[in-house]
Amino acid sequence: MTLNMQFEQRVMINTNDLPWQASPATGVWRKPLAREEAERGHATSIVRYDPGASFRRHGHPAGEEILVLEGIFSDEHGDFGAGTYFRNPPGASHAPYSKQGCVLLVKLHQFLPDDTAPVCIDTARASWLPGQGNLKVMPLHEFAGEHVALVKWPPGERFHPHRHLGGEEIFVLAGELKDEHGSYPRGAWLRNPDGSEHCPYVEQETVTWVKTGHLSVVDPSADRDRPLPRSGAGSNA
Ligand SMILES: [Fe+2]
Ligand SMILES: [Fe+2]
Repeated sequence: MTLNMQFEQRVMINTNDLPWQASPATGVWRKPLAREEAERGHATSIVRYDPGASFRRHGHPAGEEILVLEGIFSDEHGDFGAGTYFRNPPGASHAPYSKQGCVLLVKLHQFLPDDTAPVCIDTARASWLPGQGNLKVMPLHEFAGEHVALVKWPPGERFHPHRHLGGEEIFVLAGELKDEHGSYPRGAWLRNPDGSEHCPYVEQETVTWVKTGHLSVVDPSADRDRPLPRSGAGSNA
């Protein structure tokens, strides 16, 4: 079951409108946003653990990236509250669970081969840095042209028109982002392809998770016949 794997196409999903789907683990639910196959390969999802739910021990053959949106997510490494951003590189394994329940943004099987740095940042405590205009930025990760950050928009802020080299993926954490194509409330997921353009702005204070530079249609490490790299075999959770 392939979903939204055409990376040259723009995708916008208000995840609030999607139904929860059962996962292989009891009490763990998902809203798939992009996926290569049912239970392996490239996947981007919203994942919910009901209170007391757990997932079997598993590895991440091409990495796992998580942003805790609500509640507390746990594994043998600790308890991680809303706002925690993780990168579990290839080779890592864990047995996750949640005592009180949690909601996560999860991206699987999308690491560049040499991107092996484990990351764990509590964005509720990390510092905001000055960005362009009146934006504030919290850098989360950077590797080989790929950038991940939180961006805080003050009310009324307008960004300049720009083009996305390597594409742009956005998840709206608070407030509402807008551009000439539409409005994106809290919970909206947006994927702007390589070479796309827009002029984003906000009316109210807005916080977005943003990843850029990872959606190049031509990737030297990939099979040329495939639209995008970082897909393939591997168990998903
Ligand atoms: Fe943009
Ligand atoms: Fe995992």
